[in-house]
Amino acid sequence: MFSDFIKSRYKDIFGSKAKLILKEFSKEPKKCIRINTLKINPKECLRRLKLKGFFFSRVPWSRYSYFIEKEPKAVSATVEHLMGYFFIQDASSLLPVIELAPKRTDVVLDMTAAPGGKTTHVAQIMKNEGTIVALEINKNRMDSLLSNLERMGVENTIVLRASALKVKQLGLKFDKILLDAPCTADGTMGKNQRLRISLTNEDYLKYSRKQKELITAANAVLKDKGVLIYSTCSLAPEENEEVVEYAVNTLGMKIKELKTKRYLTPGMTRFFNEKHSSFLKKCGRVLPYQYHTQGFFLAKLIK
Ligand SMILES: C[S@@+](CC[C@H](N)C(=O)[O-])C[C@H]1O[C@@H](n2cnc3c(N)ncnc32)[C@H](O)[C@@H]1O
Repeated sequence: MFSDFIKSRYKDIFGSKAKLILKEFSKEPKKCIRINTLKINPKECLRRLKLKGFFFSRVPWSRYSYFIEKEPKAVSATVEHLMGYFFIQDASSLLPVIELAPKRTDVVLDMTAAPGGKTTHVAQIMKNEGTIVALEINKNRMDSLLSNLERMGVENTIVLRASALKVKQLGLKFDKILLDAPCTADGTMGKNQRLRISLTNEDYLKYSRKQKELITAANAVLKDKGVLIYSTCSLAPEENEEVVEYAVNTLGMKIKELKTKRYLTPGMTRFFNEKHSSFLKKCGRVLPYQYHTQGFFLAKLIK
C-alpha cells in the first residue's frame, strides 16, 4: 500500500498520529461543494440538489460549503454543476481564501491559480468587484482555469500565462496574495494512490526549494502591511514550516494568528530531531482524520 519510505517518514514526523493519518489515506476524502453565491443562494442550490436525492452536512468553517453525505449520482454530472452553481473542492482548501478575506476594493494576486478552485472563491467573496490577477504557467491547466472562471461567472479576474517567479515584471503591488504553492501533494494520498509509492526524499527537497523561490517573489510584490496566505496540500515540514520560517527569518515577514485556528492542528516547532522557531505554532495543519478531508497546511504572513 504505502512505500517503506512513506511509512517510516510519517512515523518520524507524526509519531503516534502517523497510523491514523495513513489509515485515513487508505480511503477517499469526503467530497465537498462550495456553493457559488455569485450565481445562486445556498438554500436554493441545496433545495434543487436534495430533490435529486443528494444529502449534505455543513462544513464547519464555511457558511456556503457542504460535505456530500449521499450522492445518488456523480454531482459533477448535474445541471447545477454545469451552470456554475457550485465548485467541487476539498473542504480543507476553502481555508486559505477564508483567511485571505479579500475586500471588494482589493487588488489580489493568485500566484499559481489553475484549475481555479481558489481564484473563483476569491471572486465570490469580492462579489466580482476589485481586481484579481491570476497567474498559471502550465498551458493545459490554464485551459481548465479559464473554463472554470467562465462557468462560475467570474468577471473581475485578469488571467496571465506566466511564471509567478517573474511577477515583479508586471510592475504592480498587491494588497493580498495567495500562494497556493505547487507541492508534492502528499496530503492527497487518499485520492492519488500513485503517490503512496512514488514519492522520494528528492521530491520533498525539490519542492521546498521551489516554494522558497515563489515566496520570495511574492514578498517582492506585496504592499507594506499586505497579507500573504501560503498554503499547500502537503503535510511535509520541508514544504510548510521550513518555507514559513524562511519567509520570517530571511525575508523579514511577520506571521499572524489564523482566525480559523480552532479547526486546525498548530504548526510544528520540532521536526527531524531539530528545534525550530516557536512562531511556527501559528501555522495550521488539517490532518486528514480530523474532518475526513485531504491533508492541508496554511499560514498567514504580513509584510
Ligand atoms: C496547487 S496547484 C494550484 C491550485 C489552485 N490554486 C486551485 O485552488 O485550484 C499549483 C499550480 O501552480 C502551477 N505552477 C507551478 N509553477 C508555477 C510558476 N512558476 N508560476 C505559475 N504557476 C506555477 C502548477 O501548474 C499548478 O497549476
